Amino acid sequence: MTRVVYVNGQYLPYGQAGVHVEDRGFQFADSIYEVCEVDQGRLVDETRHLERLERSLGELRIPMPMSRRALGHVLRETVKRNRVRTGLVYLQISRGAAPRDFPFPAGDLMPTIVCLARRVDGAKREARAAAGIAVKTMPDIRWGRCDIKTVMLLPAVLAKEAASADGAQEAWLVDSDGFITEGASSNAWIVDASGTLITRPTGNAILPGVTRRSLFDLLMGEKIPFTERPFRVEEALSAREAFITSASGTVMPVVAIDGRPIGNGHPGELTQRLRSNFHQAVEFSR
Ligand code: PDD
Repeated sequence: MTRVVYVNGQYLPYGQAGVHVEDRGFQFADSIYEVCEVDQGRLVDETRHLERLERSLGELRIPMPMSRRALGHVLRETVKRNRVRTGLVYLQISRGAAPRDFPFPAGDLMPTIVCLARRVDGAKREARAAAGIAVKTMPDIRWGRCDIKTVMLLPAVLAKEAASADGAQEAWLVDSDGFITEGASSNAWIVDASGTLITRPTGNAILPGVTRRSLFDLLMGEKIPFTERPFRVEEALSAREAFITSASGTVMPVVAIDGRPIGNGHPGELTQRLRSNFHQAVEFSR
């Protein structure tokens, strides 16, 4: 349950929280966001999330509305006020509200800041991880700057809806050359026959996932080989294991792609180990 929402400097009851009808986030998706995991009341990887947030704002030339330190305080305070132990905290910053016109409004616009925190049913998430998820491949119809975490998520919404209609829990997006870019809201990984992990390199085609980055630290610490290169759907279908990474699911096993089983059709051993150990590689803050 979300009780309290932070909006532009105030903590408001959920039912009373709102933004202006001419907010550019609402009209143009001129807005960016972050989602952080909350584990035992602690924020996971706050520093990396705020670094990426500042980069996203910079790419869109939206000014940082307050320091990273102050934004971190808003994140943590929102988690506390909502008494979230296991869940997520969502922070969105838009360019602000102004009469509808495409170019950036003249003068100093006050960015709109919204932060909300929500509990997640940990037992349900563990049950999903124990079973593994199915993914559906779909053409990647997004724009050329998927490295910026904007709220322009309609292609992801449509892809997830199509996946869900097919009984899958995530969509894997495929570029025009047949390579998987990433999940609709996650990064995509496979494990080859030699036990090497493969994930697409960062660039404009994917979001540089914070979970992906922290998993690299775990892999280096455990001396597990990995390589950053694009891979095709056919290679994924013959992979030994597959999984996705995101703040909302950490390391989540993939057991089927387009209805075809991956490996033995159950969560892979290495994937399960990485899921269990993932929090060893993260930063906690409260
Ligand atoms: N999604 N790729 C896309 C397109 C994403 O939307 C996300 C995150 C990721 C994984 O990034 P990270 O590990 O930093 O969460 C990759 C969030 C969870 C969401 O939109 O809900």
